[in-house]
Amino acid sequence: MPLSLPVPNLPDPSEVPSLRWGVIGTSIADRWVSAIHTYTGQRAVAVTARDPKKTAAFATAHGIETVHPSVEALVTDPGIDAVYVATPHPLHREQALAAIAAGKHVLIEKPIAMSAEEAREITDAGRAAGVLVTEAMWTRYLPQSEIMRRILADGLLGDVHLVTADFGFVFPYEPTHRLWNPALGGGILLDAGVYPISFAASVLGTPEHITAEGDTGPGGVDTRADLLLSYRSGARAMISTSMVTALPVRAAIAGSAGRIDIGSPFFGPSSITLTLGDVWSSESASWADGRFAAVHDGLGYQVTAFASYVAEGRTESPVHTHDDIVGVMHVIDTARQAIAEFAGASA
Ligand SMILES: NC(=O)c1ccc[n+]([C@@H]2O[C@H](COP(=O)([O-])OP(=O)(O)OC[C@H]3O[C@@H](n4cnc5c(N)ncnc54)[C@H](OP(=O)(O)O)[C@@H]3O)[C@@H](O)[C@H]2O)c1
Repeated sequence: MPLSLPVPNLPDPSEVPSLRWGVIGTSIADRWVSAIHTYTGQRAVAVTARDPKKTAAFATAHGIETVHPSVEALVTDPGIDAVYVATPHPLHREQALAAIAAGKHVLIEKPIAMSAEEAREITDAGRAAGVLVTEAMWTRYLPQSEIMRRILADGLLGDVHLVTADFGFVFPYEPTHRLWNPALGGGILLDAGVYPISFAASVLGTPEHITAEGDTGPGGVDTRADLLLSYRSGARAMISTSMVTALPVRAAIAGSAGRIDIGSPFFGPSSITLTLGDVWSSESASWADGRFAAVHDGLGYQVTAFASYVAEGRTESPVHTHDDIVGVMHVIDTARQAIAEFAGASA
């Protein structure tokens, strides 16, 4: 019998109760709102950002009824159930805590915050308030990730030895852009590195030992980082991230009985291939997500899952727990510190 892959079992968007979303930010939020309005039963009903003209145009373009003059006005709006925080990372903590204090469920763009300490504060506050709080690590909710989890749970790879994942691109120096600006949470580990680190965490959990080397640019922002993560099981993960390198943006998991390859870009809807045996094997099976014209159209999967968890009364995502979110931020904290110390020592 030819090798086959498990069929992804995801919630049907039409069977999940529709939440009324309040949105903070209008940049990546533009693609997020388009995706949820096109592919899910979820609805953005209110928005706030800084520039009133731009925000009003955003509301009109997406058919959003209410434009709020402030974050406080949005989070206390009794007409919304959940808040999507889509502002630069240094603002996530304060805005997420405000939404939680107002009794709203919160989906916070990646990275959830600037550090593991902030991540713990946010997730603890959500749990205490009895609301669902999670990071918008949308990769976890893609069909290919569900297939991957089922393959791993069935033990088809044998003992997992190695995870490799990378995310890098070339982003020319622009001092005011949030990627290059320390005051806006600049640096590649927080922006893109969080994806491959979170991918490794989704397979192996939180590492025992973290080794990191990297480079910094103007203002001390990390521009490249290469990490070796070691786990108690004996497994290791090799992670690369960069804003000056055209990396392939792939992920793979290798074990004693086979491997999984996720197509590029691995963090969005792409493909998954299971190969049993080693490099000489021809026994493989693939699945590709051919649903979307644009990668970010896949942002909706996480929002359907989020609404299904709210309906179930959950305060954390079962495929991305609070400990997992904090563990990833701990890896980023450690790597940023190691790279900053190395840069300081060689200056
Ligand atoms: N999931 C993904 O694929 C993805 C992709 C990109 C970014 N992200 C994440 O999303 C977050 C935002 O990134 P971005 O690229 O959208 O950033 P951006 O282009 O810099 O846009 C930031 C947005 O936040 C708003 N904003 C800034 N300060 C604010 C404040 N004090 N109060 C209310 N709104 C404020 C801005 O409003 P004005 O325009 O009115 O000034 C703007 O709409 C980041 O954490 C990033 O890592 C995720």
